[in-house]
Amino acid sequence: MAWYQKKEEAYSVWTELRTADGLTYYYNTQTEETTWDRPTELQSEDDRSMAFDWVWAPHPELMFIPAHVTGSRGKWTLVEDERGDEHKVKTGTKMEPLKWSTLQRITPDLVLLDVMNDPLILHNLKKRFEDNKIYTQIGTILISINPYQWLPMYTKKIVLDYQAKLRDYKDVEPHVYIVADDAYKGLTFKAGESQAIIISGESGSGKTECTKQCLQYLAIIAGSVGGIESKVLQSNPILEGFGNAKTIRNNNSSRFGKYVEIYFTNNYELCGAHTSNYLLEKIRVVHQTPGERNFHFFYQLCAGADAKLKESLKLRSAEKHHYLNQSKDIHVEGMDDAAEFKEMHQALGQLDFSAQDVKGMMEVVAGIIHLGDMDFNQVGEKQCTVKTKNALTNAARLLQVDQKVLTHGLLFRTLKMRGQKPIDVGFSKEECQHSRDALAKFMYSYMFD
Ligand SMILES: Nc1ncnc2c1ncn2[C@@H]1O[C@H](COP(=O)(O)OP(=O)(O)OP(=O)(O)O)[C@@H](O)[C@H]1O
Ligand SMILES: [Mg+2]
Repeated sequence: MAWYQKKEEAYSVWTELRTADGLTYYYNTQTEETTWDRPTELQSEDDRSMAFDWVWAPHPELMFIPAHVTGSRGKWTLVEDERGDEHKVKTGTKMEPLKWSTLQRITPDLVLLDVMNDPLILHNLKKRFEDNKIYTQIGTILISINPYQWLPMYTKKIVLDYQAKLRDYKDVEPHVYIVADDAYKGLTFKAGESQAIIISGESGSGKTECTKQCLQYLAIIAGSVGGIESKVLQSNPILEGFGNAKTIRNNNSSRFGKYVEIYFTNNYELCGAHTSNYLLEKIRVVHQTPGERNFHFFYQLCAGADAKLKESLKLRSAEKHHYLNQSKDIHVEGMDDAAEFKEMHQALGQLDFSAQDVKGMMEVVAGIIHLGDMDFNQVGEKQCTVKTKNALTNAARLLQVDQKVLTHGLLFRTLKMRGQKPIDVGFSKEECQHSRDALAKFMYSYMFD
């Protein structure tokens, strides 16, 4: 370009700069003022066309959208979004003000937001999530959004990379590994002071997976005494097999609360773990709502037991048993019950359950399944007999109780009055079913605990 064609270059006292986190800001070279907002003289035509008084308008699906008020009609305030589409908002609805430039500044730590309000937090989380950044920090708290797909972010190499960078106080993308690392550092720097990680969220939000990632990180960075870390990790399939179930919100929903304690030696190596369980959802053993299943292990046993074991437990396919087939929808997409049965078997072996213990557990579970297949004939107002003799025989044998004692326990209750001999009072058919279910729930939760 010749000198006479050259346009006069725009001169601005403002310079565009970036923070260490990559966020853009502007610096006035004369007044030394800084601002997040693009100064007017640096604004493009597009910027200027967006120069309205923007607000966060409520939206039925997206919760909030950026919009600006264009007028009113009756009891409605009219707003227009960035694409020019019109929306109606009930007049009087509080709408948070919004600076357009704020929308472009997506931060990995929400404490850096210009303002802390629900719409901006959601916007930030959504934008990060769209880039597969499922973790966002808010100070020392980590927000995790379930991606429902396996992202390549949980390998041993990544664990070691985080460990090295965190040790050197380098900047890293938010990750659940940072939380685990903080806890481990807290333990080591504070000479053994106990640390706690609290993971909370609604069903299906990813708590169980998050717990596993924390354990995986600790197991790798801390090392362990006598390979205990693999035992700690192996306890997962067992707990999940007996305590998790498919619900309409989560195919692998934990139906109990748990408190996991991890123990370390004086050298800060992992040396043991203990899990306390709370409030197992016992009702699931006997009743499931549409679209849900009983605990996984029931289906694993029916699908994975070989012919000999199945014969000795007298099990048929899960569809044939009352406690397992109530919701009709018993196959879970992406879940192979037979393969998980094998994995469970291996895990039980690794955790030193004896063959006798494992056999006993299977017999209790199969016994409960046969108990569920028991039904009753009502032969008098408060008098019943057992209708399903086979189920009774199988349940009594597997639970190692006398058939007569079991029958009596299910058909009668014994009234004891002071000074009088105990008397048996018969149950109606419905009461017999309740007493059968109560026994099944009790046995399962006793075994689980
Ligand atoms: N970080 C993740 N990456 C990929 N998939 C995930 C992640 N977290 C969760 N998921 C998927 O979401 C499913 C539900 O997650 P999870 O079981 O951890 O939820 P939860 O919060 O424990 O739910 P509940 O309270 O019902 O037990 C998992 O089975 C897995 O498929
Ligand atoms: Mg869970």
